[in-house]
Amino acid sequence: MNTEYRKKIAAEKATEEVRNGMVVGLGTGSTVYYALLKLGAMVRNGLNIVGIPTSDGTEKIAAEQNIPLSTLAVHPTIELTIDGADEVDAHLNLIKGGGAALVREKIIANASKRILIVVDESKVSHVLGTSFALPVEIVRFGWEATQREVNKVCEKSDLRGGIEDPLITDNGNYILDCHFDGIPEPKKVELQLNNIPGVVENGIFVDRADKVIIGTPSGIKYME
Ligand code: A5P
Repeated sequence: MNTEYRKKIAAEKATEEVRNGMVVGLGTGSTVYYALLKLGAMVRNGLNIVGIPTSDGTEKIAAEQNIPLSTLAVHPTIELTIDGADEVDAHLNLIKGGGAALVREKIIANASKRILIVVDESKVSHVLGTSFALPVEIVRFGWEATQREVNKVCEKSDLRGGIEDPLITDNGNYILDCHFDGIPEPKKVELQLNNIPGVVENGIFVDRADKVIIGTPSGIKYME
């Protein structure tokens, strides 16, 4: 069973919690992609939902699947969100933002009553920050000064895409990928980073996931 299959079974399992009439937060990434395909099939079979996408990319895929879409302005409360993660610890804390959608993902998470995280087993980690660099979205103005302050919190950081061709997020900002020798106190680091002028948001999600659905070689496992 390969990684794609593990992603697919986890994502499709999450869609089993989607009920008629729900407002559903639609995450971003290659794992959630399979949930979007499944939700599209369910809509074609008569499921009535409204999706709120976490990125322009997800909005496009969901529209192709004819999933009706809306906004937080119209639907301020989301009943269920299905999203991916880059790293998950045993307390269901997450690193997100590998797909550069962390700001909208955290806004959607904050508006969600229930959050399902779908991953393959390679994302499970003892301590956050040991297997994935933490994405931090920063505004472009004065970004070098912001990076200097961010580097006081982490070991070092890289401008995603590099100085010649930096990645620009859906919100028009840069991403710093921040390397840590582990993040044993994720809430503290989340707040420290967000307190730096120029930082828009970072990819640490603490106490937000209700259930992690993990695709493994022997089938689905859960953390909740
Ligand atoms: C998007 O910014 C991320 O938070 C994704 O949810 C995360 O990177 C997981 O993506 P994959 O499922 O592609 O690994």
